[in-house]
Amino acid sequence: MAFHEHRFSVAPMMDWSDRHCRAFHRLLSRRARLYTEMVTANAVIFGDRDRLIGFGEDEHPVAVQLGGSDPDALAQAAAICADRGYDEINLNVGCPSDRVQGGNFGACLMRDPELVAACVAAMKARVDIPVTVKCRIGVDDQDPEVALDRLADAVLAAGADALVVHARKAWLEGLSPKENRDIPPLDYDRVHRLKRRLPGVPVSINGGIGSLDEVEAQLRHVDGAMLGRAAYQQPELLLEVDARLFGEAPPHADAFAAVEAFEPYIGAHLAAGGRLHDVTRHMLGLFTGRPGARAYRRRLAMEGVRPEAGLAVLRAAVDEVRRAEERRSLVA
Ligand SMILES: Cc1cc2nc3c(=O)[nH]c(=O)nc-3n(C[C@H](O)[C@H](O)[C@H](O)COP(=O)(O)O)c2cc1C
Repeated sequence: MAFHEHRFSVAPMMDWSDRHCRAFHRLLSRRARLYTEMVTANAVIFGDRDRLIGFGEDEHPVAVQLGGSDPDALAQAAAICADRGYDEINLNVGCPSDRVQGGNFGACLMRDPELVAACVAAMKARVDIPVTVKCRIGVDDQDPEVALDRLADAVLAAGADALVVHARKAWLEGLSPKENRDIPPLDYDRVHRLKRRLPGVPVSINGGIGSLDEVEAQLRHVDGAMLGRAAYQQPELLLEVDARLFGEAPPHADAFAAVEAFEPYIGAHLAAGGRLHDVTRHMLGLFTGRPGARAYRRRLAMEGVRPEAGLAVLRAAVDEVRRAEERRSLVA
């Protein structure tokens, strides 16, 4: 059975979904679609590209998320990313941070569908890969019934290939970006209605989805579910994605095997002069809920940050969980 390519994805998250994080997530699911942190169009054009948009061949399918509102700059950045081999360009129309608003992009673009459409059209004219948009259901006092339809219709007319909707408003006055991910109420029905109105358009839903049971429930209404915090904070759930959502064997039998399989990647990073913590900071949520998880986290957080820390620290941390599980099975 063919599944939609957006059926399951891990959200773009600044400072979190960097290439080490994505390499780790890819180890846990072959099928999840992975998104980069947002990169501004100007950073792609003028910045250190290897650092900003470098990625590993193992990461596919991987989408780059761009921020900006200048059609020419976005088109140029999109072309650079497509040349590098990204599978999709995603435009950020959802980020509420002040820095982003100052540059007139992110969520405040919900108020300017024509400009977003011009950005999409300019990117589509330059690249052959899909161009998608991640947006909110509205901002501030906008009526989501009107605002989301207007944005969707405008970008689809400009050629957008799919939509990802964070199912809450952004309140641009008075809330921090973090509060804007929790306080404006979720409205999944609004996104489901969008999908019913646009049956031919791939629509993914995002926001507050915490488990694969919830993903399966959402997939009865939309084409895809995008998880941010749950995937990052409990990455073990990714290990079940391929089997439950794609009917394929999981890439590894369990989290222990996955960590072992990750050692060559981490070893190469260390050999190139990188720090253990660059990679293991994204692994702190592994084993959450299991005996020994706290000791695992503590070891990685305390010992893993030392400049000389190597793979032995990771192995010792994982052993905390192994030993705690053995102790529990002796007691049981
Ligand atoms: C640390 C962090 C950074 C984020 N950075 C971005 C970003 O760069 N671009 C973006 O579109 N959304 C960003 N988001 C929002 C997420 O993509 C997602 O829309 C939001 O967290 C809601 O999904 P969730 O409840 O599954 O986490 C970020 C979220 C977090 C927690």
